[in-house]
Amino acid sequence: MPPSTARSVKSRRHAARFNDRRAPSPRWQFLRGFLKHPVMVGSIIPSSRTLIERMLKPVDWETTKLVVEYGPGVGTFTRPILEKLGDKGVLIAIDTNADFIRYLRESIPDERLVAVTGSAADVDQIVHDHGFDHADYVLSGIPFSTLPPGVGDAIGKATAKVLRPGGAFLVYQFSAKVFDFISPHFDRIDRGFEWINVPPAKLFWAWKSQSTGKGKA
Ligand SMILES: C[S@@+](CC[C@H](N)C(=O)[O-])C[C@H]1O[C@@H](n2cnc3c(N)ncnc32)[C@H](O)[C@@H]1O
Repeated sequence: MPPSTARSVKSRRHAARFNDRRAPSPRWQFLRGFLKHPVMVGSIIPSSRTLIERMLKPVDWETTKLVVEYGPGVGTFTRPILEKLGDKGVLIAIDTNADFIRYLRESIPDERLVAVTGSAADVDQIVHDHGFDHADYVLSGIPFSTLPPGVGDAIGKATAKVLRPGGAFLVYQFSAKVFDFISPHFDRIDRGFEWINVPPAKLFWAWKSQSTGKGKA
């Protein structure tokens, strides 16, 4: 190998090592977020791939134009959603933690991703601000059982409003408390349980009625 090529390979390796040191891994970033806001983040370990695949299984990706994700954290679901979403689809990811949103913007260079610092309770406004009337699916990883009083109810109601008829609210949780917040607003809620996750998680798929065009709210 000529000395100049050897030098450039060496400097690329050095740059990669330097970048690795500067860009925290998703796990480290997630742990940092947990240590800073333990109640808001709610879990110390990101979701497993088995949980992700099971949660997203009922989604009809071919017809999906807009997915909204609540509480993306460091993007554990965000990346698989973008892998499955069509070229013209949009994913709006909403998190109250500005550090996570900055991390997502920097680490996922994908034009289909819109990362927003804000609360899931404001989903209707956020979706309209980005030029949409409705979302096809909303996915939530936020810890409903530790939300401040009133916020869980507000999120359940706002989500039923923002979904299109026939759309679904997909929720994974460690507590069943979320059921109280979503059951008043959805006619049909399918339930499941996933052992392969730390800790094992309760799963909910809440469907907005096709016929009435409304949630129950
Ligand atoms: C358990 S973490 C989920 C992380 C990731 N989705 C996963 O599956 O590993 C919960 C996330 O919800 C966010 N969060 C908490 N309350 C929220 C709210 N009202 N609106 C949006 N995000 C919220 C937290 O900042 C945190 O990033």
